[in-house]
Amino acid sequence: MKIAVMGGAGYIGSHTIIELYKAGHSVVVVDNLVNSSDESLRRVAELVGSPIPFVKADVRDAAAMDKIFSENKFDACIHFAGLKAVGESVAKPLEYYENNMNATFVLLHAMRNHGCKNLIFSSSATVYGNPAQIPITEACPKGQCTNPYGQTKSMLEEVLRDVQKADPEWNIVLLRYFNPIGAHPSGRIGEDPNGIPNNLMPYITQTAVGLRKELGVFGNDYDTPDGTGVRDYIHVCDLASGHVSALKAIERKCGLAIYNLGTGHGYSVLDVVKAFEKVNNVKIPYSIKPRRAGDIATCYCNPQKAFDELGWKAQYGIEEMCRDAWNWQKNNPKGYKG
Ligand code: NAD
Ligand code: WQD
Repeated sequence: MKIAVMGGAGYIGSHTIIELYKAGHSVVVVDNLVNSSDESLRRVAELVGSPIPFVKADVRDAAAMDKIFSENKFDACIHFAGLKAVGESVAKPLEYYENNMNATFVLLHAMRNHGCKNLIFSSSATVYGNPAQIPITEACPKGQCTNPYGQTKSMLEEVLRDVQKADPEWNIVLLRYFNPIGAHPSGRIGEDPNGIPNNLMPYITQTAVGLRKELGVFGNDYDTPDGTGVRDYIHVCDLASGHVSALKAIERKCGLAIYNLGTGHGYSVLDVVKAFEKVNNVKIPYSIKPRRAGDIATCYCNPQKAFDELGWKAQYGIEEMCRDAWNWQKNNPKGYKG
């Protein structure tokens, strides 16, 4: 299939392009590089042994989208493009709503105008809010998101549901990612956050490499086995292959389909620190800090539906996630900028 990849220069997009190539698909990547660098695409090209067609454009730019969809006949689109920093979204709600909502509206118009009605959308476990049930299945009700970033995902899911309902020619897959970490085993591409990392794994790797003094563990008084937050970490390469599997749903004309992409295992913050230390033989100094606003105690999924319907299952365990995250960081201490 020929796939339009919106936001494909970013962390998850760059890994997904590799899996798409491995499965024999071709891509055109669109990204405005607001949170990424085209160096990721140069390295992806090196890994797949072929140049990656790339258009630097903002998905909100209707004329640019019209041109891209006129010049290419796409079988489907994968839409990663969006701003994703939870804390920043609280400080800059307008920018987040404006970017994430409008990019999707403009994209949907361009797709409809050019007869491409197959879409895979990057959603998030955040739409479950504080989940009513653990492990979380797709049948669990959505919850209250505590930040504008999460609201954009939840609202866009509803927009996409309505678009598909109004026109059954659309096939739309909502992929609810749990906590992607790790990097391509080559160590050539990985997560390259701007400034101080918000998420656990890049904070750990930057501590290991000496860029940060110590990890702050946000709370040890949750109702979890060791008191620290429990999450469903998933290797980014497994997440990437989930998109290739989701194309099967599109091919089967799924209408609207929703899948959790996680491993189904919950690890605490201290479990991750210990696994990282053990597999990489490095020490991660840490201290306990107050809880972070908006965090929940436990979040992990039941990924059975993706297995039953798409044949997809995560292959990597927590140790491989820690190994590959460190391999990326130590080979690229300053990310793509180095
Ligand atoms: P990322 O920031 O690395 O990638 C997103 C890409 O979109 C970036 O390259 C950015 O430059 C681009 N972009 C943003 N706005 C754009 C616009 N208006 N026009 C063109 N390009 C634009 O993030 P990621 O971690 O790869 O996440 C990909 C998607 O998955 C996002 O939608 C994110 O919200 C979602 N998601 C991420 C996580 C996570 O923990 N990383 C979890 C759940 C969902
Ligand atoms: C994981 C655990 C923290 C940093 C976020 C978004 C979610 C999704 C994935 C996009 C928690 C603890 C973290 C640190 C810590 N993104 N932690 N010290 O919060 O589960 O999910 O990313 O959709 O929407 O909310 O991930 O990696 O930030 O935190 O103790 O320096 O690590 O409290 O228990 P989170 P995270």
